[in-house]
Amino acid sequence: MDCIEALKTRRSVRVYEDRPVSGKLLEEIVDCARLAPTAINIQPWDFVVVTDAETRRKIASIADHGKFIADAPVCVAVFCNNTKYYLEDGCAATTNLLNAAHAVGLGACWVAGDKKPYCEEICHLLGAPEGCQLISLLAVGYTQEKPTREKRSLDEVLHWERF
Ligand SMILES: Cc1cc2nc3c(=O)[nH]c(=O)nc-3n(C[C@H](O)[C@H](O)[C@H](O)COP(=O)(O)O)c2cc1C
Repeated sequence: MDCIEALKTRRSVRVYEDRPVSGKLLEEIVDCARLAPTAINIQPWDFVVVTDAETRRKIASIADHGKFIADAPVCVAVFCNNTKYYLEDGCAATTNLLNAAHAVGLGACWVAGDKKPYCEEICHLLGAPEGCQLISLLAVGYTQEKPTREKRSLDEVLHWERF
């Protein structure tokens, strides 16, 4: 699948097959995440790949809109050091992860991290060092649903030269 097709067909997946994802594929999607653009190329991130079922259950019980993390074979937590553009940088890495997952045949869903009251609890659970910010939690696995979602049309959102 080429990049344009991946970007146009990716949708959030919240229901997964009960089958493991290879370490090689997980490395590949994290490799794509770490190549995302960052302000002054600071690359402030770390990625924690969680496959352990008990840890995923704990994450799912803490992150109130991410209950499906318990049933996904993998959860990837994206962290950034507290730099000026940590949130923009971490979100760029997160979208790379989502798109790379789709491109290699996996489904994924972004579960909110930054600004959520449970950030500290997740940081503690996953042993994040002091000052590390949770950006996002991604459920990842082989998809068991084919979601379609309404998107605003190009005509509606594209303006040439000015609004
Ligand atoms: C910052 C952010 C936070 C999100 N948090 C959650 C979440 O906590 N739980 C969830 O199920 N989906 C979450 N999503 C996924 C969105 O619901 C989803 O991207 C949106 O509905 C559009 O659907 P699509 O990804 O299929 O295009 C989040 C997405 C973003 C960008």
